Amino acid sequence: MKKVIRFGLIGCGLMGREFASAAARWCHLTDVDFEPQIVAVCDANESAAQWFQDNVPSVTQAYMDYRDLLSDPDVEAIYCAVPHNLHEQIYIDIINAGKHLLGEKPFGIDRKANEAIAEAVRRNPHVIVRSSSEFPFFPGAQQIVKWVNEGRFGRIIEVEAGFWHSSDLDPTKPINWKRRIDTNGEYGCMGDLGLHVLHLPLRFGWKPANVRALLSKIVEERPDGRGGTAPCETWDNAILACEVKTEDQQFPMVLSTKRIAPGHANTWFIRIQGTAFSAEFTTKNPKQVSSLPYVAGGQQAWHIVDAPYKSAYGTITGAIFEFGFSDSILQMWAAFCDELVHGTQEMTQPFTCATPEEALDSHRLFTAALESHRTGTTAIVDCGALA
Ligand SMILES: NC(=O)c1ccc[n+]([C@@H]2O[C@H](COP(=O)([O-])OP(=O)(O)OC[C@H]3O[C@@H](n4cnc5c(N)ncnc54)[C@H](O)[C@@H]3O)[C@@H](O)[C@H]2O)c1
Repeated sequence: MKKVIRFGLIGCGLMGREFASAAARWCHLTDVDFEPQIVAVCDANESAAQWFQDNVPSVTQAYMDYRDLLSDPDVEAIYCAVPHNLHEQIYIDIINAGKHLLGEKPFGIDRKANEAIAEAVRRNPHVIVRSSSEFPFFPGAQQIVKWVNEGRFGRIIEVEAGFWHSSDLDPTKPINWKRRIDTNGEYGCMGDLGLHVLHLPLRFGWKPANVRALLSKIVEERPDGRGGTAPCETWDNAILACEVKTEDQQFPMVLSTKRIAPGHANTWFIRIQGTAFSAEFTTKNPKQVSSLPYVAGGQQAWHIVDAPYKSAYGTITGAIFEFGFSDSILQMWAAFCDELVHGTQEMTQPFTCATPEEALDSHRLFTAALESHRTGTTAIVDCGALA
C-alpha cells in the first residue's frame, strides 16, 4: 500500500498543471511507497482552476481564496506556484498553517521577502519546506553530483553554470508578469532562473564570496495585449562572475541566467573544470554527459557518452530511452514526497529538493549582483563563505 499524501495546489497556471501531470503518471515510478493526490486547488482566476476540475479526478474542492484552502483539514501539503510578489504572504501563511510546502523559486520577490519566509521556516521546524528545482534530477546532472561527491575533480579550476531561454527574443511576444518589477521583482531573470543555476553549486558547498555582475535589458517594450505597448522593466540577461572560497579551494564561478539567448529553449547546464577531471552536462543534449579525466603528462581527451535513463527514482522506462523535462519534474516530486514520508535521512536516494537555506543564499547573491551592477564594482556576497 502506498502512503497517499493529500495535496492542495495554490496557483493553477503553467507549473500547477505540470504537478497535476506528474501526479497523474505516478505509476511511472517503481518501488515508491508514497503517492501525491491533489485533492484541492486554488486560483484567483476561476477558469484556471476549472482545468483541474475537468482533468484531475481526485480534486474535490476548488477555492478562489487560498486561506480557505489552508483551513481545509483534508489538505496535508501544498504546492504553491504563484507570481513572485505573492510568495512572501502565501508561503508564510502556508507554513504557519502547519502544511508542508513545495514552493516555487525564487522564494520571495526580494531578499526581505525571502528572509521573512526563512523566519517562518525557523519558527515551524516540524514543517518541511523545499523549493522547486528540477534540473539536477536529469541523469546527466546526477552523474555530475556523483563525481563531485567522489572528489574526482582534483583542484577546481573553474565552474560555469547557466540557464538560457530565447522566447523573449521575439519582440512581438506580449508582456506578462515576468517583465514587470511589481510582480517579478527587481532581480528580473536572476530571480526567475537563478536558483536553478545555483542549486548544484550550493549543494556542493560552492558559495559565491563576491560577484561582478553584468545585467542587460534588451527588449525595452512589448505589446500590452490591448493594442498598445508597455515598458519591460526587468533584466533580460545576467552574467555573474563570482569567486568561490571554500576551506581548501578558491576558484572562479560564472553563472548566467538569460531570457534572450538566441537558439536556446530551456538550456540548463553545468561545466566543472578540475586539474584531475572535468565534466559537463547540458539539457541541450539531454542524453549526453562529457568527462575528461587527466593524469600528469597524459592525453586530454573528452569522453562523451549517452547517459542512460537511470534516474534517482526507478521508473518503468528502460535505460535505452531518453529522459526529458517532465521526467525531471516527476523525479523532483518523488524526492519531495519521499522526504515528507520518510524524513531526510531515510529517503530512497539522498538528493533532496532545494532547501530554504539554498534559496536564501541565492537571494544574497542576487541582491549583491544588483549592487555590483549599479556601482560597477565587485560586491561582497554575505553567504557565510570564508572571507
Ligand atoms: N520550476 C520551473 O521550472 C518553473 C517554470 C516556470 C515558472 N516557475 C515558477 O512558478 C511560479 C508560477 O509561475 P507560472 O509560470 O506557473 O505562472 P502562471 O502565470 O502560469 O500561473 C500563476 C497562477 O497563479 C494564479 N494566481 C495569481 N494570484 C493568485 C492568488 N492570489 N491566489 C491564487 N492563485 C493566484 C494565476 O491566476 C495563475 O493561474 C513562479 O514562482 C515561477 O517562478 C517555475
